[in-house]
Amino acid sequence: MSFTQPTPAPARVNRSEFAVPGSNPRFLEKAATSGADVIFLDLEDSVAPDDKVAARKNVIAALNDLDFGRSTVSVRINGLDTHYMYRDVVDVLERGGERLDLIMIPKVGAAADVYALDMLVTQIETAMGRKKKIGFELIIETALGMANVESIAATSPRLESLHFGVADYAASTGARTTVIGGPNRDYAVLTDPDDHGRRDTHWGDMWHFAVARMVVAARANGLRPVDGPFGDIADADGYRAQAHRSAALGCEGKWAIHPSQIALAHECFNPPANEVDRARRILKAMREAAAAGKGAVSLDGRMIDAASVRQAEVMVAKARAIYATERSATSSPKPKTPKTSKSGAGKRRKSNRK
Ligand code: GLV
Ligand code: MG
Repeated sequence: MSFTQPTPAPARVNRSEFAVPGSNPRFLEKAATSGADVIFLDLEDSVAPDDKVAARKNVIAALNDLDFGRSTVSVRINGLDTHYMYRDVVDVLERGGERLDLIMIPKVGAAADVYALDMLVTQIETAMGRKKKIGFELIIETALGMANVESIAATSPRLESLHFGVADYAASTGARTTVIGGPNRDYAVLTDPDDHGRRDTHWGDMWHFAVARMVVAARANGLRPVDGPFGDIADADGYRAQAHRSAALGCEGKWAIHPSQIALAHECFNPPANEVDRARRILKAMREAAAAGKGAVSLDGRMIDAASVRQAEVMVAKARAIYATERSATSSPKPKTPKTSKSGAGKRRKSNRK
C-alpha cells in the first residue's frame, strides 16, 4: 500500500439515487416515501426556466415539511454558469432547515467550481450556525469535467460522490446519440468471417471509458462513484444490464429517474448472496491459512491470497451496510397519516431523524 491513503467519504448506502423535479409538489411528496437511498430534489434540468423560482420554494417547503425517513436528501442546484445558482444555495441553506444532507453540483468542469461552492456554503453554514456540515455530490458530465476529473475529485473534504451524467456528457463530447444512456448500435465491431463466411456484430459499451475513468478518480479520493440515468423507463432489462456493468466496474449505485427504477437499482447493487457467501469463505480460509503460516491457499480450485482478503472485505462490508439499512427501513415507524399543509398538499409529516 502507498503511504498516501484517501480519507473515505462518510459511509452512506447509495444504491439508488432518485431524481425528483422540484417543480412538482406532488412528486416531491411521493418521493419522500419512495424508500430510495438518496433522493435529490431537482432545481436544474428537469425544471423549466419559468418554473425555477417556484421550484426553489417547493423544495424549501419539502425540506421543512416532509418526512424523508431514512433517505439521504440532496438538492441539485443549477450550474455555475447560470444566475440561478447563488440563490439556490443561499435560499435552500438559509430557509430549508436542517434536514438537507447534500448538495448536488451539476456540470462541474474544474476544481475551482467546487472551491467556489465550498466557500459559499461555508459562509452560510457559519452565518446561520448550521449544525450539519453539508456534503457535495458532483456530476461529471462534460468533456471539461472528465478531462479534469482527477483534480476535481481531490478538491474538498465536503465531497462524497461523483456521478456520471451520461446525457450531458454525450452532448458535450458530440457523441452521436439522442437517448439517455444504454447501448448504441453504431458502437460495434464486425468479426472476421468464420468458416461459413458468417460475420457477427459485437456491440460495445460506448460509456465504458467514461464510467471507468470516473470510478478510478472517485475511489482514489475515497468518494462513491455513482452511475447516472437510464432513459428508457419501460426497459427494466436494459436498466439491469447497465447497472450490473456499473456495479462490476465499482459503482455504488445508479440513478432512478422513475420510481420503478428504485427497486431495480437496489436489486442490482445488492451484492449477490452467493458472492457474499464466497467472500465470507475466503476470509475464513485465509484466517486458517494465516494460523498455519501460509500466505496463499486454494479455495474451490482458485488461488487466494492477501488481495483476495481485501476484495472479500469490501464485499462483506457492503453487504453489512445494506443489511443494516434494510433492517432500519423495515423497523421504522409506519408513515404517519398525511396532514394538509398551508400549501394545500397532503404530506407525510416530518421528523428530524437524519
Ligand atoms: C444527468 O444530469 C445527465 O445529464 O445525464
Ligand atoms: Mg445533466
